[in-house]
Amino acid sequence: MWKSLLTGLVLTGSTLVAQEQQPLQIDLTNLKDEIAPTMWGVFFEDINLGADGGIYAELIKNRSFEFYKPLMGWKTIGTLKQEGGFRIINRGLQAERNPRFLRVEVKNAGAGAIGLENEGFRGMGLKQNLRYDFSTWYRLEGKPITLQLELLNEQEQVVGTTKLQLTASDEWQKVEASLLSSATVPKGKFRCWMEGDGQLDLDMISLFPSDTWKGRKGGLRADMVQKLADLKPGFVRFPGGCIVEGHELSTRYQWKKTVGPLEERQVIINRWNTEFAHRSAPDYFQSFGLGFFEYFQLAEDLGSEPLPILNCGMACQFNTGELVPLDQLDEYVQDALDLIEFANGDVSTKWGKLRADMGHPAPFNLKYLGVGNENWGPQYVERLQVFTKALKARYPDIQLISSAGPFSNGPLFDYLDKELRAMKADLIDEHYYRKPEWFLGNANRYDNYDRKGPKIFAGEYASHVEGISNGLVRNNWLAALSEAAFMTGLERNSDIVRMASYAPLFAHLEGWQWTPDLIWVDNLNSYGTPSYYVQQLFSTNRGTHVVKALQAGKPLAGQDSLYVSAVWDDAKKELVLKMVNAGDAAVELPLQLKGKKPGKGTIQAMQLQADSLQAANSISAPRQVAPQVSSLPLPKKAWKANLPARTLTVWRIPMK
Ligand code: AHR
Repeated sequence: MWKSLLTGLVLTGSTLVAQEQQPLQIDLTNLKDEIAPTMWGVFFEDINLGADGGIYAELIKNRSFEFYKPLMGWKTIGTLKQEGGFRIINRGLQAERNPRFLRVEVKNAGAGAIGLENEGFRGMGLKQNLRYDFSTWYRLEGKPITLQLELLNEQEQVVGTTKLQLTASDEWQKVEASLLSSATVPKGKFRCWMEGDGQLDLDMISLFPSDTWKGRKGGLRADMVQKLADLKPGFVRFPGGCIVEGHELSTRYQWKKTVGPLEERQVIINRWNTEFAHRSAPDYFQSFGLGFFEYFQLAEDLGSEPLPILNCGMACQFNTGELVPLDQLDEYVQDALDLIEFANGDVSTKWGKLRADMGHPAPFNLKYLGVGNENWGPQYVERLQVFTKALKARYPDIQLISSAGPFSNGPLFDYLDKELRAMKADLIDEHYYRKPEWFLGNANRYDNYDRKGPKIFAGEYASHVEGISNGLVRNNWLAALSEAAFMTGLERNSDIVRMASYAPLFAHLEGWQWTPDLIWVDNLNSYGTPSYYVQQLFSTNRGTHVVKALQAGKPLAGQDSLYVSAVWDDAKKELVLKMVNAGDAAVELPLQLKGKKPGKGTIQAMQLQADSLQAANSISAPRQVAPQVSSLPLPKKAWKANLPARTLTVWRIPMK
């Protein structure tokens, strides 16, 4: 299939050489179509241990004993453990959002008599000479108790330890301590011995590395956020994805339960816990430590627009498809209105005040809101209409994003496309998880889209090569190259395609449910896939205006396996070309510039290529497929771009 996409090739000796190309005419005279600063963004969902066990740096799994099995992740240890030493108490309505805690009977316990171990998400990544911050909520009846806190390596040797004294207290209180790790341990553990005599209640037992993003206590994993920062994303879509919808309505994403004090954020099962039988993750829950406040803060840190997607009163239609009756949608609509108030409202408003109390009095300046994820059918349209009416009446400037369903074409797509256009939707969220051939064959998808209708948000996409979904194959160069080809078509049409995001974003090597993914991590490291570097090359070379670039009067969208888009960067006064040669032969592409003349300096050339289409990155070879940067002299007369086989080449050309 791949080779059959090639046309116009001749074989000379043993190498394939493309037939002579007609010039690409690049017209810089009439630059009117602006590229949105939001064009290339990221899609975040708590899938594949993306949040808990991933970017949310908490190391303790099941810190509040709220998993379905309350001691999942924990091991009780010591000689006293059999004597009813541990009990799970449920406070019920007294603490509806965090009902359970652990009661430990510490009876004249000396060293090694009673304790707890936590295994972390897939072990705990510990770094040599790094401080780890422990905290717990406790109540104590009886004599003082000493906690002996320990970091362990894989051989159960102690690599960090400290003691913490607890004195009697009727009220819950939070205590903190810190430990230094003497070793780097990819899969460590945490242990806590209790010595003394009393009845000890524990909840929210927590351990964080101190090297979080911006050093925020209880914050995010810095290496993972840095990977996002390096993409310079125009927006951050959050929290998904199917997680928005929930397997059933009771497990839908409810933003109000993810803000305020951590101990009041209700833990729920993660829908990816059970979604795929071959990748079940019984220990996958959502703590919401990365909740909506932290999300807005992250978007702000990254200089990105926040783009939340909310439930529209429908559970995932691939699962239960539960519907909220239309006359009972008020709560859902109110949640959407209140989210805007939380993000943008004055501190005198209820939700604006909560934002300020959480440490951010200034508004987050929310401009976009998605209603529903991958919902379809008349049921969706009916609910969307209710939301749209209420949201537009109160916040006419908020741009609303409507779902085009899960598929890129077919009856579900066609129905919604027609309905959403009739509704004059602001932005339509189209998704495509397709094979490389589809991406290569659809680079012209938007060339003839209606220019007067709704704008497009390519809200989730990824090229799926054979074998990827069962994990037999990793994100490879074939997938990335086909995405790059398709993205030239998004960029060429960025007068209507205003946003695009690859999905999903993160995956833990031992905790994934869905592949491919943009960034892979283990407990200590992360690496970008070839697709990541494609995203980065597009995003960091976005430009401000679309430039017409035609060969024989047509955009290059697959002829001779070539794909090109051209943009103008008004700040730097540079012409930026993105050129994909998806074929098996090198190509020389003559270029003709019209309307502006080259300035001084050199062409900055960035190229992504790999020896084989199967090439992939990994923890041990994180940059096997990564951009190579070089400078090329500005040609005097004849302009030609040399495009080796199977490459993405980006040129930044200084202009007068
Ligand atoms: O990105 C993974 C999943 O794909 C998303 O949760 C969902 O929206 C889509 O089907």
